[in-house]
Amino acid sequence: MLNDSLIKSQLIYDGNVYVLDSVDSTNNYAKENGGIFGDIFITENQTMGKGRLGRSWFCDNALAMSVCVKPCIAPEKNMLIPLLAGYAVCKVINSYADLDCKIKWPNDVVCGGKKLCGILNEGVLEDGKIKMIVCGIGINTDSEYFSPDIKDKATSVYLQSGTKCDKNYIAAKVANYLYKLCVINPVLPHDFKDMCVNIGKRVTVTENKDIYECTAVDIDESGGLKVKLDSGKIKTIASGEVSVRGIYGYV
Ligand code: BTN
Repeated sequence: MLNDSLIKSQLIYDGNVYVLDSVDSTNNYAKENGGIFGDIFITENQTMGKGRLGRSWFCDNALAMSVCVKPCIAPEKNMLIPLLAGYAVCKVINSYADLDCKIKWPNDVVCGGKKLCGILNEGVLEDGKIKMIVCGIGINTDSEYFSPDIKDKATSVYLQSGTKCDKNYIAAKVANYLYKLCVINPVLPHDFKDMCVNIGKRVTVTENKDIYECTAVDIDESGGLKVKLDSGKIKTIASGEVSVRGIYGYV
């Protein structure tokens, strides 16, 4: 069971932890109630979770958490936050359950060819400026069942490793890792591109109404995906409205 003081006691920074028995979306709640950097809103019972591109996010015996992050001075760097969160989740879960999770640009964590975690970054505006970023992280910790539309492409820590999760520990570790990456020791995506499952692969990009195949080659310093078009030209795509899939399936 989630316990706010237990999570707080494991944080390496002085952050507020709010455990919610049930909530529509931790991101919505954080946007309305979040105050300061590092605030964590967390539940095991999210009833109307939101995903990227207007999709919904299904949550069963899973962890839904939203961490308030200070916006980066250069707004384009805010795109880095979901990648850093994905990197943090990979590091924490790999060491906790001895798995080989990887980032799927721009905002998923995958394991065994299936999605284990999704990340949704949302900005809170004040006078037209971003005053706070809410980084929403949904980790399928102990989930065993998924709805028919996602069951072939979703997985959980438990299904991949047989390990039941200590959700308080995982939540604190992920928040700590994200804090380290954002504040103490920032890293650039190029440095962890080996952990990105798309790099070096043929991918299908859906950009507005355009759908094309190309090869993913790197992630730039703002978090954009560098791809090599079949013409040989290098192009950088931003995460906004883009969906990237492997040509033979989800990864
Ligand atoms: C995606 O893969 O499309 C992103 C999924 C993000 C889900 C998380 S769960 C915690 C936070 N609250 C939400 O409503 N969404 C994010």
